[in-house]
Amino acid sequence: MSLVTRQENDAIIRGEALLYNQLYGCFSNAALRCALKLDIAGIINRHDGPISLSQIADGINSPSPNVDGLSRLMRFLVHKQIFDEVHQPSCEETLYSVNECSKFLLKDTRNTLAPLISFGTDPLIFSAFYNLNQSIEEGGTAAFKTFGMEIWDLYSQNPQVNRSFNEAMVCSARLEIDTILSKYDFGSLKGTLVDVGGGIGATLNEIVTKYPHLKGINFDLPHVISSAPSYEGITHVGGDMFTSIPHAESFFIKSTLHNWGDDKCVQILKNCRESITERTGKVIIADNIIIPGGDDVFDDARINQDIIMLALFAGGRERTEVDWKRILKEAGFHRYNFIKIPAIVSIIECYME
Ligand SMILES: C[S@@+](CC[C@H](N)C(=O)[O-])C[C@H]1O[C@@H](n2cnc3c(N)ncnc32)[C@H](O)[C@@H]1O
Repeated sequence: MSLVTRQENDAIIRGEALLYNQLYGCFSNAALRCALKLDIAGIINRHDGPISLSQIADGINSPSPNVDGLSRLMRFLVHKQIFDEVHQPSCEETLYSVNECSKFLLKDTRNTLAPLISFGTDPLIFSAFYNLNQSIEEGGTAAFKTFGMEIWDLYSQNPQVNRSFNEAMVCSARLEIDTILSKYDFGSLKGTLVDVGGGIGATLNEIVTKYPHLKGINFDLPHVISSAPSYEGITHVGGDMFTSIPHAESFFIKSTLHNWGDDKCVQILKNCRESITERTGKVIIADNIIIPGGDDVFDDARINQDIIMLALFAGGRERTEVDWKRILKEAGFHRYNFIKIPAIVSIIECYME
């Protein structure tokens, strides 16, 4: 029997702890859902400053909340840097405040990410990730293995899931479009801009509000368009981007190509080319670009999103610049600019000629 050295033993214990922490990663997800459902950020925010545990307990919608459980939940959320713990000399009790992360859990704010957290932690959607192995063993999406249908069909057949997905997209896109608008100038575009896969039109509304000389067409699947609110200067059109896309001078495609395989992306981009009415028009893609070896928060988000694409969307994937260049070339685009912005998405500005 071989003897384990002290160094080897330390490595075993460390490896075990690392694995435990990976295993427990799902609890961040559960605690986020819990914080959202209890509206902890909202309870704290309704006060002027940091508040105590008993004040949070008082705000919870229950006649007898479990205060011990709440204190352990808050310890976890503080440890995960989702809320801050505050110690004031004038007060013996630990106080809690909303920080740069939990402010996005506030509902009814312009920048809320509450709908995204609600959708992203939904047990129904999350169940697909447990079948990822089947998708790798047999091909096909984990979504299909789980639901017996592709994710777009699940959305179209289930109005509640459809609404929840659309709202999740709106809130995450709202933050991104603010950054896009601060870094990219749509001012040189003329005529009509089509948002391909534009969801319920909130992103395009932000663009045409800033650039009122543009007319907007928000183009998406009919079941998505049927729940789109009306916006000034925007026409909603339902259809299938693989069949045809409304004619216009320019096109915007945000966070949509990464849902599809290369062939499908080429088809969408070719359909844009066929529908473009001006040689000076542009196709503006806002999508993720994987930076090999990148390790900032945005790189992390892109690598995580690649697993979402793998599990849920047939052919979906995140791409490097090299991958994007291959697709653009095949779709007939030879002149383009990659524009990095401080966001998960980058801009790929494609010229017709
Ligand atoms: C990930 S969402 C992105 C939505 C929006 N652009 C954003 O950034 O939030 C992809 C969009 O593509 C739409 N879509 C999927 N298949 C489509 C098709 N065949 N034709 C048109 N739109 C489609 C979906 O309904 C969804 O709104």
